[in-house]
Amino acid sequence: MNQVIETILRHRSVRKFTEQPLSSEQIELIVKSAQAASTSSYIQAYSIIGITDLKKKQALAEVAGNQAYVAENGHFFIFCADLHRHQKIGEWEGSDVLPSIESTEKFMVALIDTALAAQNAVLAAESMGLGICYIGGIRNDLEKVASFLKTPKHVIPLFGIAVGYPAKETSQKPRLPLNHVYHENEYEQDESAFKAGIDQYNQSVQDYYNKRTNGKRSDTWSSQMGTMLEKKSRMYMKEFIEKKGLNLR
Ligand SMILES: Cc1cc2nc3c(=O)[nH]c(=O)nc-3n(C[C@H](O)[C@H](O)[C@H](O)COP(=O)(O)O)c2cc1C
Repeated sequence: MNQVIETILRHRSVRKFTEQPLSSEQIELIVKSAQAASTSSYIQAYSIIGITDLKKKQALAEVAGNQAYVAENGHFFIFCADLHRHQKIGEWEGSDVLPSIESTEKFMVALIDTALAAQNAVLAAESMGLGICYIGGIRNDLEKVASFLKTPKHVIPLFGIAVGYPAKETSQKPRLPLNHVYHENEYEQDESAFKAGIDQYNQSVQDYYNKRTNGKRSDTWSSQMGTMLEKKSRMYMKEFIEKKGLNLR
């Protein structure tokens, strides 16, 4: 055990922050940490937009389904997959980059790069005693978000991260059993072992909710996933991504 691992293992999402804003030094350290992440072929296919304008924060909170902590936090970052600068570089270098930029592979590269940078940012923030919450809710309406942020073609806002000083202690959500997510040499396909892992996990999730809500809530992870995945959500996404010139071939 060391401090880095302790920070990682202490993670829980924070959804209530004090009014104290992050300092510019904290913001810079968080962004620098994001940039230090590994990046596929050195491509650095992301941009981070910090939102300081309260009106914009409130508008984003509304897009995210009225999640108050999108507006009320110490700082709000939006992480975008970004191949716009590479398209420009193609023009300046006289290279025909568009067929590659617009491929599914480069779209995946940009998504992976953005997620790696974001999680580095999160760990940097958490290591400073700050709390965070990822906000995928901004994808409820990316047309609106893209117009607020003035993002060009080949840029997709993926998620926000609300950061700030936690206003209250929250509990940690249990994760799947380790041997359910870690396989050796090949994917474990034994259905009874698979089911046993899920059953064991469902029990710990039920215990967690029971304890957290004084018995008012006792759903399992399976039931949550079943209900969540039954609903079609954000089905406009394929069209939006393609309109932005990504994932086309
Ligand atoms: C990409 C992404 C998007 C998320 N979007 C939201 C969100 O819009 N609102 C929210 O309250 N939590 C959001 N979360 C947080 C998850 O709900 C949370 O990580 C998960 O329930 C596990 O809980 P924990 O982070 O406390 O361990 C998001 C997490 C990720 C990784």
